[in-house]
Amino acid sequence: MTWFQDAKFGIFMHWGAYSVPAWAEPIGELGTFDSEFWFAHCPYAEWYWNTSQIPGSAAFSHHQTVHGGRPYDSFLDSWRAENFDPADLASLFARAGARYVVPTTKHHDGITLWDAPGTGTRNTVHRGPRRDLVASIADASRAAGLRFGVYYSGGIDWFAGRRAVIRHEDQIDDHGRANEAAYAAYALRHVQDLITRYSPDILWNDIGWPDQGLVDLPGLFAFYRADVPHGIVNDRWDGTHACRPDVAYDFRTSEYQANRSVEGSGPWENCRGIGFSFGYNQAEDASHSLSVAGAVRQLADVVSRGGNLLLNVGPRADGTLPPTQRDVLEGMAEWMAVNSVAIHDTRPLDGASSSDSPWLRWTRSGNHAYALIAETGEVRLPHLAGLLDAGSALRLDGRPVAARAVAEGTAVTLGEIGDLPIVVRFDLVS
Ligand code: GLC
Repeated sequence: MTWFQDAKFGIFMHWGAYSVPAWAEPIGELGTFDSEFWFAHCPYAEWYWNTSQIPGSAAFSHHQTVHGGRPYDSFLDSWRAENFDPADLASLFARAGARYVVPTTKHHDGITLWDAPGTGTRNTVHRGPRRDLVASIADASRAAGLRFGVYYSGGIDWFAGRRAVIRHEDQIDDHGRANEAAYAAYALRHVQDLITRYSPDILWNDIGWPDQGLVDLPGLFAFYRADVPHGIVNDRWDGTHACRPDVAYDFRTSEYQANRSVEGSGPWENCRGIGFSFGYNQAEDASHSLSVAGAVRQLADVVSRGGNLLLNVGPRADGTLPPTQRDVLEGMAEWMAVNSVAIHDTRPLDGASSSDSPWLRWTRSGNHAYALIAETGEVRLPHLAGLLDAGSALRLDGRPVAARAVAEGTAVTLGEIGDLPIVVRFDLVS
């Protein structure tokens, strides 16, 4: 797990036929709505096929008025990826400080981004983009020095699995997930094929695994580990977003505000979009999205608590990133160029307290403590007496910082600070 816990930051990529209509209501973050409201107004654009089949929903009328109710699969043919430049994207991700990339290889619509066994022509090699997008992303990511994982929707497949429309969380288990033996064998062949072709560093399954196939998982993981000894698997193999403790997994996952109780116990990863959707949503603008400072704070917060951030990009159908998303990653790149030592390869610092007002987070690495601070003027940094040497204070951006020991810890005086945290490094006294 060390490589994963050192990596701290990864890029998720949701790209599919749903990136053509690219439409959802930007209502807010997962985990802050009741289930029935969530599905009828789902802000996840990658759920378009489902939401647009719920009569009375805004997506239903959008699909009728803007797309004339056309069949979902026609979006696959309109998806051309004509400006897709994987090397450019991978270099942006690497500059932003990400150390791994996890694209969707099959989302809930069942369309595979490689020539997957049993899919016939319903994949991006034979239709739409007409290329193996998994291979393109894997090769470009690795050439840029990034590790490469695969997202696979094992639980929901609206084509090869079950087509029932989901209006409530409970319905996912009742009739949304495909559990039959035939589908279990189909999904198993897919993941085995992904391993054989691309040796992914992470298997990132979603919405559980078909019940009839749960017995295959130990064998699948053994097959995986024989090929990729450092390979790791997430926790969504038995249950929508979670696992029974007796099913092996290497790290837990939370998503926006959902499932946050797993954070802090062993290795974990929080995922979210830059806005409220994973797939590209044309109805979103900057007001629905993280700012650069918001993204940096989210990363710092997660890392200070021992987690990883899997921040999602949703390319447009032509393969380019919408400017709002690109700007956030460029801003993170600028910040990381100065401050990445406070993120990569760090662990939480015991004995010091974080706060939101003043905004303060801590990490540690080797014999250094890092205080990530977004507050102007004199700031009190509470910590155990004797934890760090106030006299060693150094601002990573090279600006002056005055620091002195006070009763509750250390006080630092900073100049004018904006929303973006600055980092002060201290020597730990051990
Ligand atoms: C969810 C959603 C999905 C998204 C994913 C990311 O389970 O159904 O659209 O791909 O989580 O974590």
